[in-house]
Amino acid sequence: MIIPIRLVRESATEYDITIGDLPKLSYDRKVAIVTNPTVSALHLERVLEKIEAPQLEVVEIPDGEEYKNMDTILSILDRLFQARFDRKSLLIALGGGVVGDMTGFASSIYQRGIGFVQIPTTLLSQVDASVGGKTGVNNKYGKNLVGSFYQPEAVYIDPAFLETLPPREYAAGIAEVIKMAVMFDEEFYGFLSSHDLRERENIEKTIAKSVALKASVVNRDEKENGIRAVLNYGHTFGHVVENETGYSRYLHGEAVSIGMVMANTLAVELGLLDPSEAEAIEKLLIDNSLPTRYRIEDIDSFYDHFFLDKKSAGGKIKFILPGGKIGTYRIVDDIDEESVKRALKIYNGS
Ligand SMILES: NC(=O)c1ccc[n+]([C@@H]2O[C@H](COP(=O)([O-])OP(=O)(O)OC[C@H]3O[C@@H](n4cnc5c(N)ncnc54)[C@H](O)[C@@H]3O)[C@@H](O)[C@H]2O)c1
Ligand SMILES: [Zn+2]
Repeated sequence: MIIPIRLVRESATEYDITIGDLPKLSYDRKVAIVTNPTVSALHLERVLEKIEAPQLEVVEIPDGEEYKNMDTILSILDRLFQARFDRKSLLIALGGGVVGDMTGFASSIYQRGIGFVQIPTTLLSQVDASVGGKTGVNNKYGKNLVGSFYQPEAVYIDPAFLETLPPREYAAGIAEVIKMAVMFDEEFYGFLSSHDLRERENIEKTIAKSVALKASVVNRDEKENGIRAVLNYGHTFGHVVENETGYSRYLHGEAVSIGMVMANTLAVELGLLDPSEAEAIEKLLIDNSLPTRYRIEDIDSFYDHFFLDKKSAGGKIKFILPGGKIGTYRIVDDIDEESVKRALKIYNGS
């Protein structure tokens, strides 16, 4: 006997991303703020003043990518059970991408899914991680390999949080912004090139534009079957750099900066990008205090590392490259090994 199940997709998911001063938030259900000691010391008091709920818990998890794992998820779930959270309860992620990804994942599995809200506090999480509904943790096989697509109920982006952010973390967020401009928007790229992004007014515009760009990509391709892959510009190379340096020398955004410059080198090698354009992009990264150069010790082993990336499925490396004109891109998965290695030679000193 065959019993067919034909699920009609749930109703469309809709929520708003609010950019500006954190508003007063009033809930009629249990709420837990998930954060870490660094963020709570700096900002929890102000946030608590804004949130009203019949029961309000604060769940602190340790600070650091090394704690982005299942043990921490289980500890969050434990706290929720102890506080008798039910299916109507809500989690609020207050922190950077690590807190956001884990809070989202915990929400997606607690009693098969409860609501969550994002209050991202790093630039990277404001422009990137809090938008799009990817949640998850790392394990010994790699980064973000366990997780779910799970959208928040709302996202509140308050640039005031950035005032306490260390400069390196700030720059790392800018790298993801530059990535989006180079891929999708020439005018935005022009804005970034001609404004001081440490100024409040400029960063607020920058955040709004980046979020709008990422949202439009995600709206077209939630699960990364197509255009969402373009957001991986700089990441194919950047992930190898992060991996080779044990995830300790560079912040993710810094590795992406280096990775974009490497991708540009390949694009120039393939005749897709003018060398002067590649130089201009690198200058913009340098002007924003980002590293752009990395010495590759062994090109063969660097190349082999591409295949550890889950995005190189099926043995083909998918390169996301600038398309020649700023604001355009090319996705190529048929570049022969020799061309890639030839392009990388300048990073090897040969
Ligand atoms: N879900 C997605 O689509 C997506 C996209 C990009 C990145 N990510 C994930 O995001 C994570 C990186 O996020 P991140 O760069 O925000 O790192 P992070 O969350 O580790 O934050 C960086 C550091 O800044 C501290 N911090 C946070 N807010 C602060 C503030 N306002 N003032 C001072 N210090 C503050 C944190 O405690 C931490 O020490 C990675 O795990 C990555 O996989 C997810
Ligand atoms: Zn990234």
